[in-house]
Amino acid sequence: MKKIVPIVPMPQKITVCDGVCGNDNPLSWQEDADLPNEGYIVQITKKGVIIQASGKAGFFYGQKTLEQLRCIYPNGIPCMKIEDAPAYPYRSFHIDTARHYFPLDELKRMINAAAAFKLNHFHWHFSDDQGWRIESMAYPLLHELGAKRDGDFFGKTKNNRTEHLYYTQEEVKELVHYCDERHIEIVPEIDIPGHVTAILAAYPHLSCTGKQLEVATSAGIFPDILCAGKEDVFAFLFELLDELCTLFPGKFFHLGGDETPKTRWNACPDCRQRMAAESLADSRALQGYLTNRLAAHLRSRGKRTIVWNEAALGDNLDTDIIIQLWNDDPKDPSLRALSRQKDENGKPTSPNQGIGSRMLRKGHEVLLSNMLSSYCDYPYSYVTLKNIYTWDMIPQKCEDIPKEVLTQVIGGECLCWTEYIRDGVSLERTAWPRYAAKAEALWTAEGQKNFKNFKIRLKKLYPFMKELLPGIGYPGSWFPNPIASAKEMMVFASNISGNIRSEYADAQDEV
Ligand code: ACM
Ligand code: ZN
Repeated sequence: MKKIVPIVPMPQKITVCDGVCGNDNPLSWQEDADLPNEGYIVQITKKGVIIQASGKAGFFYGQKTLEQLRCIYPNGIPCMKIEDAPAYPYRSFHIDTARHYFPLDELKRMINAAAAFKLNHFHWHFSDDQGWRIESMAYPLLHELGAKRDGDFFGKTKNNRTEHLYYTQEEVKELVHYCDERHIEIVPEIDIPGHVTAILAAYPHLSCTGKQLEVATSAGIFPDILCAGKEDVFAFLFELLDELCTLFPGKFFHLGGDETPKTRWNACPDCRQRMAAESLADSRALQGYLTNRLAAHLRSRGKRTIVWNEAALGDNLDTDIIIQLWNDDPKDPSLRALSRQKDENGKPTSPNQGIGSRMLRKGHEVLLSNMLSSYCDYPYSYVTLKNIYTWDMIPQKCEDIPKEVLTQVIGGECLCWTEYIRDGVSLERTAWPRYAAKAEALWTAEGQKNFKNFKIRLKKLYPFMKELLPGIGYPGSWFPNPIASAKEMMVFASNISGNIRSEYADAQDEV
């Protein structure tokens, strides 16, 4: 049997040779302009190690590969040549610090581990109904009021503490620098125009009704959203985006756009006036209008905008906006709104078409993060390592799409929503090694992926991961037996109670 070399993600090509390289043998670096961006060659010989690359990212990834080998072979690495480059350029991981705050050191541990598995974008979800978590000089009430919560009640767990938790701008800069050193770009997300209760608690005049709200203390989808009719809202968002653009120097900016019930907009004179003035067919097109204006602002600052799939339902987004799919199956109950959309003759506008394939056809780039293959806060027995690893890197309903259009799928993401994750140990335990499975799904070319082989390499790398992530569970917990699965699923089901599930389904109808 061919020897399995414990490297994750699996490199493009490994040629094992005779001999062993002692770990104190010299390491040298050679530039090779012909190697692709992020690609590298590592040559391990009896005399030492040579890493070749065309640029900094490639050298960095060559070194990351070497670190895995050094950990697993402390007495000397078998001689081999590794030639490697990623399949997808956008390999992302996500952390929600709005539902629960995690100290900077914990974020650094997650980031450091992500870099070790060659993930290169950190999608930082720092604003939601339950908290705004970044200090703002432009709008200080965001962190003074929007980051403060009088207790919370997520799932069945009640917490009576008042918590006032946010990242200072100095901490944000420190984190940007920490990521930069690890070839990771932070992609900041302000989730708008929905999921904004914390923003509205600070600045209530930005909603349609102007009603004073409290920061949300439980999970859910909330009806009050930013008004798309009032110019004050655009002025607020432009200034806030400008401030965030100076904090986050990367190329991408996430504007959220998921789960935005349109009840308030449909009843709001300002929103209705905007729809009439801009000849917008409905409130979904109004969301497209708002997103396009903000994306134009970000473009003028040199940024690309990313949004969740619901923001595309108005069918009027500018095509340079990237669509991140968290659900795109027309049969998925949470996308009933899409499958019900009809033209003036009563015919479905997107017969049997997923939103992803529709957006690809229109020219958008797409990121894949389908719930069942990417939501790593779900139980291990539900979003399994195998699901993550083997999920198709194409959106639903793409059978007849030309191959070159599929190159608009630029990558994907693994996520941890944190309504029910309250501390760093739980975060690490739930995210890893599922984040490593996503890293391989995005780095390793299709024909080379092999789940059985991945499982073997992953288990061998347990000591390596344990050093980076003290909270990670034992390999047994990654593949729960039927009793452990049943327990996990019971906790999951009780957190996401029947009430919440039906509330989500109803709200999604209004999206
Ligand atoms: C999402 O899960 N609402 C993006
Ligand atoms: Zn309004």
